[in-house]
Amino acid sequence: MDHNEQQDTAHAPSKRKEMTRRQFLSYTLGGAGAFMAGGAILPMIRFAVDPILQKKEKGNFIKVIEETKVTNEPQEVKFKIHQVDGWYESDPKLIAWIAKGDDGKVFALSPICKHLGCTVSWSGEEAPNLYHCPCHGARYDKNGKHLKVAPKSLDEYEVKMDNGWVYLGPLEPNSRG
Ligand code: FES
Repeated sequence: MDHNEQQDTAHAPSKRKEMTRRQFLSYTLGGAGAFMAGGAILPMIRFAVDPILQKKEKGNFIKVIEETKVTNEPQEVKFKIHQVDGWYESDPKLIAWIAKGDDGKVFALSPICKHLGCTVSWSGEEAPNLYHCPCHGARYDKNGKHLKVAPKSLDEYEVKMDNGWVYLGPLEPNSRG
């Protein structure tokens, strides 16, 4: 290659495609905009789904009564639980009917009638030694077994004994009636 050829090559137009100023600006601003939008939106998404992602505490037991105070005759015991449902927290009051069975073991029944959800009571003139529902007359025996109107037996709380105290856990289908 002589000297003239070298000069021609040096002045030949470049074949490389260069980015225009407009393209450069749109890429830069687009990227910065996406970054900022992500920074604003991601925390919002995280905030919205966080309670769903959090593990729910299972099997919490509540201390309700001393074991020595539980009799063969069912007694009404009121207690509070702490509930977390997404962002909503509450402390509903619950009722359990607690008694000792023929085997001497403590058990606890839900007072919610399995017909349409009214609250049952134990014994009294209208239904001696039975649970009775004031709404449509359902009857259950001491073990919560359904005798009349209601299609199922009363639910049963999970029961745990510890250090002389009775603890109640979640409700389960009745295993006694
Ligand atoms: S709700 Fe209890 S009998 Fe109907």
